[in-house]
Amino acid sequence: MSTYTIAVLPGDGVGPEVISVACDVLGAVTERFGHQFKLTRGLIGGAAIDATGGPLPEGTLELCRKADAILLGAVGGPKWDQGAVRPEQGLLAIRKELGVFANLRPVVVHGDLVERSPLKREIVEGVDLIVFRELTGGAYFGEKRRTADAASDLGAYTSAEIERIARAAFKSARRRRRKVTSVDKANVMEAGRLWRETVSRVHREEFPDVALEHVLIDAMAMHVLRWPRNYDIILTDNMFGDILSDELSALADSIGLAPSASLGASGPGLFEPVHGSAPDIAGRNLANPVGAVLSTAMMLRYGLRLEDEADAVEAAVSATIAIGAVTADLGGDLGCREVGDAILHALLHPPLAHYRLMHWG
Ligand code: NAD
Ligand code: IPM
Ligand code: MN
Repeated sequence: MSTYTIAVLPGDGVGPEVISVACDVLGAVTERFGHQFKLTRGLIGGAAIDATGGPLPEGTLELCRKADAILLGAVGGPKWDQGAVRPEQGLLAIRKELGVFANLRPVVVHGDLVERSPLKREIVEGVDLIVFRELTGGAYFGEKRRTADAASDLGAYTSAEIERIARAAFKSARRRRRKVTSVDKANVMEAGRLWRETVSRVHREEFPDVALEHVLIDAMAMHVLRWPRNYDIILTDNMFGDILSDELSALADSIGLAPSASLGASGPGLFEPVHGSAPDIAGRNLANPVGAVLSTAMMLRYGLRLEDEADAVEAAVSATIAIGAVTADLGGDLGCREVGDAILHALLHPPLAHYRLMHWG
């Protein structure tokens, strides 16, 4: 049994609601597996602006650096949209400060939700892919300029930045179906051409056993809707990865289901749902907590190397979806809290235990 320190940053909007469920899930993991999780809470985003004037206080960064992993809800909302400093800057700053350049966003269409997908069963059944989004470079972090009537964001990449995310993607492909689809805009962007050359070189020199294809982003936005099952690992830059991962989340019906892990070369990983602060439903117990709970499972798996525990959390989520214990975004009538309770129940009373009881009494 081990003790882990987890920095918990609920953030804004639905962030605190879904993170509250995620923290309860960690409590249930303690109950079932015996690990201790010491939760240290910090401010980020709009909540931090209100309390301190800035979106990422030094104290938050400090507790993140001391933690074994970081669990984050979401940031942003209309309240802060016109301010000089935005909540989103806190999220970008924490990613950059922690050096978490590899953002893994899995897309799996749950068998019990296939009929709810906006796409046909034969297109989405069995989809199982991971978007590897570069997270600390590109147009998000290049030089920004603004005058009264002109603005620009420099979309720059170095080959070193491309190499490290490419290696992460190829390594993951080796543990899966050995296929990487690299997505860029090499027909127009100079940075896209460097992206393609660098990915090709890393592939040729280090991962010739993995299949690699290059696809332009505009075509890819179409292909993922027509043949999503063709993809195993999708490797792409910061901006395209942001857009594609929201698009892909719709395959499984709701962005409320989608988790993510952001990992660096060393130090703690950052784990957060793909969705934002959802101001339209915040504060009403309507948010789907599954994205945050599956991000907690990714934290257990990739951040703390607790594989059985991660499997157990994922199985508990599947079991609640299977019995229709879901929020309104998935057509259900349960609230965030109630779905959380169903997940906790499934985690603490796994079906295997019943099976053993029945057969060996
Ligand atoms: P959003 O992801 O917050 O919401 C998009 C739609 O999805 C909304 O209709 C919302 O109700 C729904 N949705 C999102 N999460 C849900 C959940 N858990 N359960 C059920 N439905 C859910 O995106 P947006 O509306 O474009 O952005 C709102 C704010 O969030 C903005 O300030 C944006 O900058 C911020 N944002 C933050 C993050 C983050 O913190 N990682 C990510 C995306 C957007
Ligand atoms: C995400 C969000 C963030 C991003 C914003 C809020 C800065 O959309 O995590 O996907 O664009 O990376
Ligand atoms: Mn996004």
